[in-house]
Amino acid sequence: MKINILAIESSCDETSASVISDGKILNNIVATQSVHEKYGGVVPELASRAHQQHLVPVIHEAIETSGIDKKDLSAVAFTRGPGLMGSLMVGVSFAKSFAYSLGIPLIEVNHMEAHILAHFIDDPKPDFPFICLTVSGGHTQLVLVKDHLEMEVIGETLDDAVGEAFDKTAKLMGLPYPGGPLIDKYAKEGNPKAFAFPVSDMPELNYSFSGIKTAVLYFLRDKIKENPQFIEENTADICASVQYTLIKMLTQKLKKAAKLHRVKNIAIAGGVSANSGLREELNRLAADLNWKVYIPKFEYCTDNAAMIAMAAHYKFLSNSFCGLDTSPLAKMKI
Ligand code: KG4
Ligand code: ZN
Repeated sequence: MKINILAIESSCDETSASVISDGKILNNIVATQSVHEKYGGVVPELASRAHQQHLVPVIHEAIETSGIDKKDLSAVAFTRGPGLMGSLMVGVSFAKSFAYSLGIPLIEVNHMEAHILAHFIDDPKPDFPFICLTVSGGHTQLVLVKDHLEMEVIGETLDDAVGEAFDKTAKLMGLPYPGGPLIDKYAKEGNPKAFAFPVSDMPELNYSFSGIKTAVLYFLRDKIKENPQFIEENTADICASVQYTLIKMLTQKLKKAAKLHRVKNIAIAGGVSANSGLREELNRLAADLNWKVYIPKFEYCTDNAAMIAMAAHYKFLSNSFCGLDTSPLAKMKI
């Protein structure tokens, strides 16, 4: 009998379902919520309502296209946290009732661990131990990964996440949400040294991204006073300079972590790992420092249920199940 798991992700603004069979991802259905665009950020109440609308069709499609009959499912997995409470609640409630109705076990998954385990979906898979820089809209963490389910946070942001710094810069420039991918796009045509922004250096392996947001705010305010068209005329250079600064902050601590823990296997995960500047810089560092760098496929960088399914597969193998009394944990830790 194969291990067939249905996995559900609903921690933020993507509703996603995936079926995994004996460790092989069969599909990854994602419904993105466009309702937040006009508000310049995710509106929690609208996110949970949209999850309610999308969840059943997304799960239906995942089961249909997997070719696996519901009665052959071995377990149902779901994101328990971290994430938005209302959003998590939709996925958790569905997973519990579905597993109960089918009489199969439930598997809770930590969203941040799943971002890291996305590296085990395709080849090449990282060798242990490796350090993963997990960068998303809600988190920025350096994680020492000793085994599939053995991880230690060795550094993290003390305030904003790097994805927030991308999105807030974009918002200040009048670009739509989420601004990260747009900054990336414009940065390709800009000069990264055109404008200088402060590089924060926090103690040990920690980060801070709240200062750059204020620096960009004052910088733009002063420049617009001199020239009201400043942003329009310098979009590419502003994006390239901010992105350069953020990447510098990220890689500075990553280099320090690699040295301190004597690890040369380096991975990135989370939405911001889709950033082409960060990918390029990591490849450059790999050549320079003799690192083996692992960068996930684009569709497994941003929120998706395939990564939840992959994590659930390892949890199934280690007999790690949860009860029907499980509830979401908005601030769940690794
Ligand atoms: O992991 P994710 O999909 O959701 C969270 O768990 O937060 O990450 C979303 C974040 C957003 O801040 C988005 O702007 C950022 O990832 N992002 C990017 C890029 N693609 C997505 N940031 C910079 N460059 C990109 N290409
Ligand atoms: Zn995420």
